[in-house]
Amino acid sequence: MTTTPSDIYLNGQFLPLEEAKISVLDRGFLFGDGVYEVIPCYAGRLFRLEHHLQRLDNSLRAIQMTSPKSPEEWREILSRLVNQHPGTDQSIYLQITRGATGKRDHAIPKHITPTLFAMSQPARYPDAATLATGIKAITLEDNRWQRCDIKAITLLANVLLRSEAMDQGAAEAILIRDNQAMEGATSNLFIVQGGVIITPPKSDHLLPGITRDLVLELAIQHGMAYQETPISVAALQAAEEIWLTSSTKEVMAVVDLDGQRVGNGQPGPIYSQMANYYRDYKARLQAGIETT
Ligand code: PDD
Repeated sequence: MTTTPSDIYLNGQFLPLEEAKISVLDRGFLFGDGVYEVIPCYAGRLFRLEHHLQRLDNSLRAIQMTSPKSPEEWREILSRLVNQHPGTDQSIYLQITRGATGKRDHAIPKHITPTLFAMSQPARYPDAATLATGIKAITLEDNRWQRCDIKAITLLANVLLRSEAMDQGAAEAILIRDNQAMEGATSNLFIVQGGVIITPPKSDHLLPGITRDLVLELAIQHGMAYQETPISVAALQAAEEIWLTSSTKEVMAVVDLDGQRVGNGQPGPIYSQMANYYRDYKARLQAGIETT
């Protein structure tokens, strides 16, 4: 898929990429003062749009903003982007910044118009080979701020942590705060212990992932044992299986943690079960059987 003239939505207009311009005084550019969503689109169908819009709303409220559009208006805008490439798998990026005023000032101005930006990009979902073999991860100290539940565009810590992982030949960093494994630099964390699927409970220290919630829903639907409980570093190191989830990673097995094999060094049996359920769900969505 190449970028076509209407792949960008900016402040009420559908534009070619080259014509989509914002002010250098935009607070998103100056301060990282904004929030975002990444919404998968399977065969032209937006995945869990209501959930993404609800999280967007929560992020906006947390930074003292309100949603500038209703869910229906967002659906209309995003559908128009998606329909440029009917029936294809895409990834929608949606970003709202607080907007621009005439000067650089940290204080939040009383009157300001937010900058609304959305784009469709080709889907970048993991290939079958990577899903089958799993990935390497390393643990790193979580040096992000205290409000990781907000999907803020201020991602410098995540960028550096992920980069450190890649420099060490790993695909992701699993972040440790107060001796607890929280999530990945760009994904949520699951382990399997004694056959039970475990993920940390939602808190200010991790992003409430939409894929995470779907995985838990699938566990309930298929009668798989699960717990939302903190994961200590010791539990992470002793885990039978480790998985990471995100809109772009889907459900991915970690087979090597800090240079040590996880389980037998291959994606485990509970992972395979969940990956099948996830694949089926996605196939039903692509076929129009599942609607969100
Ligand atoms: N990131 N935790 C963090 C820190 C993330 O950045 C992400 C996703 C997730 C998973 O959330 P979800 O399942 O809703 O995608 C968890 C996106 C994909 C990104 O920043 O590109």
